[in-house]
Amino acid sequence: MGTKFNEIVEITKEFTQDLKTSSLSDEIDSLNLKYLGRQGKVNSLFKSLPIKSDPKIGQQINHLKKFIQTKLSEKLEAALSVAGHQVIDVTVPGIPILKGSLHPLTQTIEEIESIFKGLGFVRRRYPEVETDWYYAEGLNIPKDHPARDDQETFYVGENVVLTAHTSNGQLREMEYKKNPPIKMINIGKTYRRQFDASHTPMFHQFEGLVIDKNINITHLLGVTDYFVKQYFGPDRRTRLRPHHFQFTEPSFEIDISCGLCQGTGLIGKTSCKICKSGWLELGGAGMVHPLVLRNGGFNPDECSGFAFGWGVERVLMMKSGLPDLRLIFSDDIRFLNQF
Ligand code: PHE
Repeated sequence: MGTKFNEIVEITKEFTQDLKTSSLSDEIDSLNLKYLGRQGKVNSLFKSLPIKSDPKIGQQINHLKKFIQTKLSEKLEAALSVAGHQVIDVTVPGIPILKGSLHPLTQTIEEIESIFKGLGFVRRRYPEVETDWYYAEGLNIPKDHPARDDQETFYVGENVVLTAHTSNGQLREMEYKKNPPIKMINIGKTYRRQFDASHTPMFHQFEGLVIDKNINITHLLGVTDYFVKQYFGPDRRTRLRPHHFQFTEPSFEIDISCGLCQGTGLIGKTSCKICKSGWLELGGAGMVHPLVLRNGGFNPDECSGFAFGWGVERVLMMKSGLPDLRLIFSDDIRFLNQF
């Protein structure tokens, strides 16, 4: 019995000595094998115990085993951190990776694009930094027109602006295609000097242009109605209001029926908080002015067309009931996560 205790003391001494002289992780690994392996010293000691031995000896051997385990793992950790390795506990639960998603504005642009593609429109992109001709003069906007007032337009240089609408794409598309038919949807960035709950200095418009033989207002109405029903819902209606643009004749403002009061302007007996009148303004449209067709190299006696230019942020705001357009550009994750 005494000899077993002696053996335990001997192994402890030997281990302490071994531990002092090992510092590399390989050396520590082999100590692990030497003392704790299946054929190791601790196991052999266990195996050598007679069946009816003093339980205290078993306890002592277990203590020794724990002692060796603790010392070895301490030493290993020290060795690894000296070697520049990080000690990783692979059993700790991982930190979940946040999944990204498309920005609501990108989602809206993609949705608009796909609705118009369904009607055979082709997606275009035209310059944001634009010359006076495409942006204004060629669209029949003379030098003294208020739309060119520098209160709204950013001037980059003489006769060069940050385009304030996507209508510059009309002339560019005509020049590019040279002949009818044209069926384009130009979605791009536009810039105006404005900043409030429904305006930002940079925003997006989508501009439709259709030119062919015998295009008339009913085509404009049909396309508008199709878009509105696809984007806002099948129960929404559209109406035209007379308006004025230099580059369309006749010109209209297009309204869509309010989704809350269904175009009645009333919720019960009180007036609808969203629209007050039953209708919400979508944006401008009209039949392409003959002068514009001519400026694009087309003959107004042989073809006609319609155009519209509506705000991307605006339709997103109208559909989602956003109170402040500036939220779209705030990069606030709590807002973005809702889309
Ligand atoms: N460009 C006009 C605007 O920004 C919209 C428009 C486009 C009107 C095409 C008529 C035709 O307000």
